[in-house]
Amino acid sequence: MSSYYLTTPIYYVNDHPHIGHIYTTLVADTIARYRRLCGDEVYFLTGTDEHGQKIERAAAERGIPPIELADEVVSRYHSLWAELGISHDDFIRTTEERHTRGVEAIVARIAATGDFYVSRHEGWYCAACENYYTEKELLPGHRCPDHEIETELRSEENVFFRLSKYQDRLLEWYDSEPCPVAPPSRANEVRQFVAQGLRDLSVSRATVEWAIPFPAHEGHTIYVWLDALSNYITALGYDGDEVGDLYRSLWQGDGVRLHLVGKDILRFHAVYWPAFLMSAGLPLPTTVWAHGWWLRDAQKISKTVGNIVRPDDLMKSFGTDSLRYFVLREMVFGQDASFSDEAFIDRYNSDLANDLGNTTSRLVTLSRRAFGDCLPPRRGAGGALATAAATAIAEYRRTMDEFAFSRALEALWRLLSQTNQYLVAHEPWKKLKDPAASGEVAEVLWNAMEAVRVVANGLLPFLPEKAPQVLAALGVEPGGELSALEWGGLPTGAELPAVTPIFPRIDKKAYLADAGDAPPVGKPAKKPKRQKKEAAEKPEMIQIDQFFETQLRVAEVKAAEAVPKSKKLIKLTVDVGEDSERTVVAGIAGQYEPEALVGRQVVIVANLQPAKLMGVESNGMVLAAEADGAPILLRPEKPVPNGTRVK
Ligand code: MSP
Repeated sequence: MSSYYLTTPIYYVNDHPHIGHIYTTLVADTIARYRRLCGDEVYFLTGTDEHGQKIERAAAERGIPPIELADEVVSRYHSLWAELGISHDDFIRTTEERHTRGVEAIVARIAATGDFYVSRHEGWYCAACENYYTEKELLPGHRCPDHEIETELRSEENVFFRLSKYQDRLLEWYDSEPCPVAPPSRANEVRQFVAQGLRDLSVSRATVEWAIPFPAHEGHTIYVWLDALSNYITALGYDGDEVGDLYRSLWQGDGVRLHLVGKDILRFHAVYWPAFLMSAGLPLPTTVWAHGWWLRDAQKISKTVGNIVRPDDLMKSFGTDSLRYFVLREMVFGQDASFSDEAFIDRYNSDLANDLGNTTSRLVTLSRRAFGDCLPPRRGAGGALATAAATAIAEYRRTMDEFAFSRALEALWRLLSQTNQYLVAHEPWKKLKDPAASGEVAEVLWNAMEAVRVVANGLLPFLPEKAPQVLAALGVEPGGELSALEWGGLPTGAELPAVTPIFPRIDKKAYLADAGDAPPVGKPAKKPKRQKKEAAEKPEMIQIDQFFETQLRVAEVKAAEAVPKSKKLIKLTVDVGEDSERTVVAGIAGQYEPEALVGRQVVIVANLQPAKLMGVESNGMVLAAEADGAPILLRPEKPVPNGTRVK
């Protein structure tokens, strides 16, 4: 068993987490879960970066001590990681004593090699990067090239680290096989940066108090990046000569030591950190992997623009696994990706609710109907579907090993689509009542459900909550090893639980209207410049039994009133027969006066999951034809009893 140590960046505590922060951690968690299935001895570290001027200033703005701010944000991180099912083994805070001790030990080792010297320093300082820039690196107006905020000209006496001394060794390191910096495009950037020549690095600050004091340099504190980067070994118990077992096995052993980082902090991890370690005579990471940036509607996410994507609402509306799925499916690991509410809902409805959820529940329903609430007996060796599954598994494993998560998910979804094609080709629903076809129905359903079982096992690293639910729906336990991906694991004839929806469909229009950013009726949504074409909802053919899953009924409007503060919504009380009344919210206020609706019959979707619209719970949806963006209500040609089924 080989060791697999992986880390996320440690997050600044000056702000609460957004999608960019959770992304690295979700990727790390997916890798950790996958490697555990591969049988590796995984150790997964995350944490918080709590020192430095940025935190000092944020706390001062709130009028609280920095540690109080840190405690508050750290507790948010803890609860968020628990909600998102993050399976980290440790969470390090740079304000912990174990960390401070380790940093002092690293600084002492670097000092012993003679790689520190004191010198006066003048440069343009960005408080957000905690970094100095030269004039030519800046944007016009002396602005930081990364944060685009104004920098300050500072002159102070600092301790310097002889970074320039490590230029050749760093270049050699990048040339080692396999290249320790990934993906290759990023490795080239780093190589070029280093090849241009490295300047020594100022590693102390005379003006930052909220930091670790620099040993033997009174009045100086340790540069926050030297402090922060050290977390990767202080968390393992690195403490100078007295190293702990974890450090010995994970950092000195021959296993994987992987740092996952965003592209903006690659230089710190692929240049400064290895140089510090070289100087201290300590082993280097085996890989530094830099991913791209999340944009929103193709624009940079920023507080000033006010387009930050916070995970909280998304998790509340769609569940945490849907968020995990979206970010891993949508971003090609290494490149930038754009978040939009629409793209999120489209992915959710098409991939999770339809392809995964509906396929599972249809199969379970058919099998329960045909085999007395049980799985079918196994027949045959799986034929073409087993071959398709073997291809999908091979592709999945290869792409997971390459960190090509979106392609691994595509491979699983290809198998789902092949399963649906297989079902359409055999049409088992037409043969359920034919005793002569029972063997064929058993074979087709067993194979199709086995393919879904394989997919769900492949999804365990991505959807730790929902993938086990899909497996439970198929009457199986989640597999704890990759061998569970192999064909043949579905039991024969076992009892099947009744179907409950795993991914209830989201009403996109209602969600967007509720989120307050739906386009006004009749006007198309303005697309931000350069917005890439979002995945359009594909027109899919459905089976008749899928249509019958939707219950359409005639209902009579008994009362109607406008929803307060909404331009579009009307709250209807409708009678759906047998004296049962319910509330349905409809976006028809632009076209209809509430009073004119009373007494009128409409058609509603009667078995829709309840949804809240502007705070009012809606239990169904009124059908309307859309003409030039305006809703025109449907009604029966002549009055029929309330509750009459429409089909
Ligand atoms: N504290 C440093 C890291 C020290 S590691 C020794 C830091 N913290 S951070 O909170 O600002 O950022 C943490 C991570 O979030 C970085 O990897 C950064 O790339 C990532 N992201 C922040 N915004 C992002 C997006 N919009 N998209 C993707 N990731 C981005 O830097």
